[in-house]
Amino acid sequence: MEKIEAKKYNFHGVCGLSQSQLSQHEQLYNNYVQKLNLVRTLLIEDKNFEGTNNVFSRIRSLKLAESYSLNGVKLHELYFENIIGAGKRPFPPIVDAIVDDFGSMEHFINKFKAVGMAMRGWAVLVWDPLDEGLHVIGQDAHDVGSTILTIPLLVLDVYEHAYMIDYGIQKKEYIDVFINNINWEVVNIRYLEIFS
Ligand SMILES: [Fe+2]
Repeated sequence: MEKIEAKKYNFHGVCGLSQSQLSQHEQLYNNYVQKLNLVRTLLIEDKNFEGTNNVFSRIRSLKLAESYSLNGVKLHELYFENIIGAGKRPFPPIVDAIVDDFGSMEHFINKFKAVGMAMRGWAVLVWDPLDEGLHVIGQDAHDVGSTILTIPLLVLDVYEHAYMIDYGIQKKEYIDVFINNINWEVVNIRYLEIFS
């Protein structure tokens, strides 16, 4: 098992979010990577499982930290990658799939924004093989609300740390800025990989 390496991001061109806001956010992501590596190392070293229970025990704490930091790493990578390099309006095939499942792009965007406003952690557009359809999933934390075996296509971070430096408590303004920064090419690539 290899150590996870944090990716490096160039946020040049992201509009409406300052370099300070984005670099602080990237630092939080780096911290998740470090903690994930630490937790995994401690789990490998752990040999004594005496007294394990579901109220408090060492392996319980480590396992909660593992899923929290692992999802934190993956969600942030998906988020950063779908706001860097924007510049195109939404285009097929993801637009066609969204219109099929949500009725219109306008309705989808309104719903996605509403889920962002409603949640404390994440709004995620996923494709689910169970019904071969698109769904907007709401998560209150990295490890609260995630759905197994769904494919994330578009990820919005709505933790306060994602926007407080630039927007204070004006979450709605931040979500509007996010929508304008979506790299639909990345979303399309993620969607097409499902069927490749
Ligand atoms: Fe974040």
